[in-house]
Amino acid sequence: MKFKDQIARRRTFGIISHPDAGKTTLTEKLLLYGGAIQEAGAVKSNKIKKGAASDFMEIERQRGISVATSVLAFEYDNKKINILDTPGHKDFAEDTFRTLTAVDSVIVVIDVAKGVEEQTEKLVEVCRMRKIPIIVFINKMDREGKDAFDLMDEIEQKLSLRVVPLSFPIGMGYDLKGIYNLQRKNVNIFTGDSVKQHKNVTSINDLSDPKLDELVGTKAADTLREEIELVEGIYPDFNRQEYLDGELQPVFFGSALHNFGVKELLDGFIEIAPAPRSKKAEERLVQPDEKDFSGFVFKIHANMDPRHRDRLAFVKVVSGVFERNTAYKHVRLDKNLKFSSPNAFFAEKKEIVDESFPGDIVGLHDTGNFKIGDTLTSGEELHYKGIPSFSPEHFRYINNADPMKSKQLAKGVDQLMDEGVAQLFTLELNGRKVIGTVGALQFEVIQYRLEHEYGATCAYENLNVHKACWVDTADENSAEFLDFKRVKAKFLAHDKRGQLVFFADSAFSLQMTQQKYPSIKFHFVSEFDRINEN
Ligand code: G4P
Repeated sequence: MKFKDQIARRRTFGIISHPDAGKTTLTEKLLLYGGAIQEAGAVKSNKIKKGAASDFMEIERQRGISVATSVLAFEYDNKKINILDTPGHKDFAEDTFRTLTAVDSVIVVIDVAKGVEEQTEKLVEVCRMRKIPIIVFINKMDREGKDAFDLMDEIEQKLSLRVVPLSFPIGMGYDLKGIYNLQRKNVNIFTGDSVKQHKNVTSINDLSDPKLDELVGTKAADTLREEIELVEGIYPDFNRQEYLDGELQPVFFGSALHNFGVKELLDGFIEIAPAPRSKKAEERLVQPDEKDFSGFVFKIHANMDPRHRDRLAFVKVVSGVFERNTAYKHVRLDKNLKFSSPNAFFAEKKEIVDESFPGDIVGLHDTGNFKIGDTLTSGEELHYKGIPSFSPEHFRYINNADPMKSKQLAKGVDQLMDEGVAQLFTLELNGRKVIGTVGALQFEVIQYRLEHEYGATCAYENLNVHKACWVDTADENSAEFLDFKRVKAKFLAHDKRGQLVFFADSAFSLQMTQQKYPSIKFHFVSEFDRINEN
């Protein structure tokens, strides 16, 4: 197959949701359609039910599962589909944010009864800022939930999206009769039998077709007619370009558990979702069909088995073909590296591959060369943008609890930070180390991993920080900036890249500081000038 055709047939996307909305169930049903798995229950949920670190550790110990489900690839309708897994647990949100830098589109799953939940809001905001094309799937239609119009209103309000339904439910919960496909003008009747579900599709000429009454009963048919009239009056026509530009979000309804509406979603996705897109590097915009290979590391997975210290770096191929046993330039280290056993991912396994194309994810064994955000190329000096750090929510001093193991601690902390488990800051005044995390759970994870993988013990000490703000000034020698540095010296730190960070101890103090120093900008994201760019 030609290189360009290989690119055109790839769809790399992520499924995002608030925990329990049905992401795992939907993923599994998509894989069933792809024939990638044979039975339901094959995809293990990697969510952390009780929110305890021990659960996380247990999951991590089952390396096979969590590494293999990081990327789930399958073939459907002659398309190569790569689903990138995103942890739903909020303490691992940063991991999800980074994964979103490697997707070309997303599907957002919303529970019809719960509506828009907190985690969904945060994740969709990141997608919106990056103009990632979004499809919305409203799940659990077999249960009583919110009215479809109210829910779409809520999505528009809370998520600042502009939606257009491409399918519409006929009834809901106990009364769910089926789903009407607005584009293909057919009705899928709900029987509750998940295996045969997608075989109950009947085409109708238009909504006045009496076949509709036969299928769902006159009452439901009339309600649907009224509702579709309303849909056509309120919502814009679907326009693919607007969807691709992140300006219009198509909505599908269904029940992942009953495999209902999932095929409509998948077929709709295949038809409209983008193939791998161009990506901005600091130097220039890189097109997927360029001959030379380039890619970037968006995730690093550590091996928890202390006998195997190697890690797996996940590289998204942006352009060209990644080939096994070929030397590529690690731009940050200015070093050529060859990979003899790059992994490709399939539904439940990973395998060594000779070639990977734009849109694909390759897993590279790494003994400590990679950091999140690193770029690999065929030789060109490129730096991919857009893997920012967000201000952590929790901050603690990290102290060495075993003076004999200070080297191990330093190495462990260093490597865990490279993996993106948390962020490390060094206070300017006294050099003390501060760990910042998105969730409290990570502190336990770090402690556990330091002990089990590096033989080091650490102790934490509380630190009252509201937000870490990356400091941005046009003039480092201005009187205002120098005064800021002097007055706030106690609250200044550097992140791992050496960028200056201000620890605001409350929203109020941040506001006061901003008022006092109007020329200084305080950002909650490390790549402040780049977040809007893809
Ligand atoms: P997540 O990955 O987004 O966290 O959600 P997951 O798929 O694990 O689904 C969360 C719960 O919701 C599961 O029930 C799942 O069976 C249920 N669910 C998913 N889709 C639907 C649907 O369309 N309709 C209904 N009624 N339920 C759905 P659970 O009892 O928490 O887990 P399990 O014991 O069934 O695995």
